[in-house]
Amino acid sequence: MMRSADALLTDVYRISLPAPDDFEFWREAARGMIRVGIPADRIIWESPADQAIDLFAQGERALPPPAADAPQPRASRNFLQLAQSVILHSDIERFSLLYRTLWRLQSRPRLMEDKADPDVRRMEDLARQVRRDIHKMRAFVRFRALEDEGDEHYVAWFEPEYHILRANSGFFVRRFTTMRWSILTPRGALHWDGNALHEGPPATRADAPSGDPVEALWRKYYASIFNPARLKVGAMLKEMPRKYWKNMPETALIPELIAGAQAREAQMVNAGSQDFGETPQSLEAIYAGIDACRRCDIGCNGTRAVMGEGPHSAALMIVGEQPGDVEEEQSRPFVGPAGQLLRAHLEKAGIPEQRAYITNAVKHFKFTPQGKRRLHQNPSAREIDICRWWLDGERSLVKPKLVLALGASAARSLLGKTISVQKVRGEPHVLDDGSELWITTHPSYLLRLQDRGREEEEAKFANDLRKVSIRLSNLSR
Ligand code: URA
Repeated sequence: MMRSADALLTDVYRISLPAPDDFEFWREAARGMIRVGIPADRIIWESPADQAIDLFAQGERALPPPAADAPQPRASRNFLQLAQSVILHSDIERFSLLYRTLWRLQSRPRLMEDKADPDVRRMEDLARQVRRDIHKMRAFVRFRALEDEGDEHYVAWFEPEYHILRANSGFFVRRFTTMRWSILTPRGALHWDGNALHEGPPATRADAPSGDPVEALWRKYYASIFNPARLKVGAMLKEMPRKYWKNMPETALIPELIAGAQAREAQMVNAGSQDFGETPQSLEAIYAGIDACRRCDIGCNGTRAVMGEGPHSAALMIVGEQPGDVEEEQSRPFVGPAGQLLRAHLEKAGIPEQRAYITNAVKHFKFTPQGKRRLHQNPSAREIDICRWWLDGERSLVKPKLVLALGASAARSLLGKTISVQKVRGEPHVLDDGSELWITTHPSYLLRLQDRGREEEEAKFANDLRKVSIRLSNLSR
């Protein structure tokens, strides 16, 4: 039976999302509702985790079809971007907030630019809280090793505030690709078997193991990277809120470390150097250590550390300077403009990316803010030297036969001294472990050049890479 136009004005529609973070479902439903012209106050949104039940709702109604000439709803790119974060929040009003904003966007396409608008502000607040939760999960998940049919399986327990588990899964898969792991949370679980990701039901703290040798390892690293000269308890609590402490083995050390901080600082001043501790025994441990590293100002600037990527026994290691803006955002090395140029040249030189482990001399992004942009700043010699410990760790584990340094910072990190790239490029050098080092310019340098200068430098770069490619293929024989 057709419903009358009056009924359309008074009916209340209930929309149940299959999952609390299902943006695609919300978007499709919202588009349908907008096309039919159902205002925000006639819709009740609910999801299994939120259970927003309105006593006056009338149950499900079939939505009438839109008029043949009903326009397609419009949504600006910044609305869609923000909405994908907002939906991960646990505020039960978020679905209607999004719908109301989308509704208003139809008559005010530039609404999102109005930063004083209460809906826009609320969306930005929720998205900020979600991003922070995502960052916390990346920084504070701690795996414990379990023996499982002779195989190692790493299990972590984490309590996210919002529905961020699925949105964060790609990060953990990329970072811990070669491990078998599970992340258990009260909102659901993720299981990675080395090939595929599976989702599981909510878990409890008791499902996760606690205390094993991996914890001892963590404690050791934390103690070794803890820099007493930088002890700021307020900042530490802000970065690592107490609610996460109970799941982090290293936090058991905090009172002790704080108590001993002054004595250790005096020791360090006397020794004239940083206290570096023991070399990590696995790339995973390096990854975790880098994330928590606060030994220099770059590590303390609140950006994400970017880890090396590639086969763990690659014959070739490529070392850049430091992650850039895009790399920091995606937490992957060489994925921005310099990375694209590098990868194009690797292909041209016949160096398969799959044979290279790509990393950086410095693991955090150093920048100066300028408006909304973050402008790259060169790391200082001291910062490179401090971070060298991590690169040495990567080299001792990957054991590459060939190392390619891109630019002077990478060369310093490998040689321990500043050299002129133009003087030493294009010929092999021997590193402390017997591996062969090749040095060339950094692709960002090429990007800054123009016209003839760029062509000439790019040809030299291509030539250097060709030599490395020949060495690499000789190694494979
Ligand atoms: N430049 C670098 O040196 N490293 C990156 O990862 C990206 C740009």
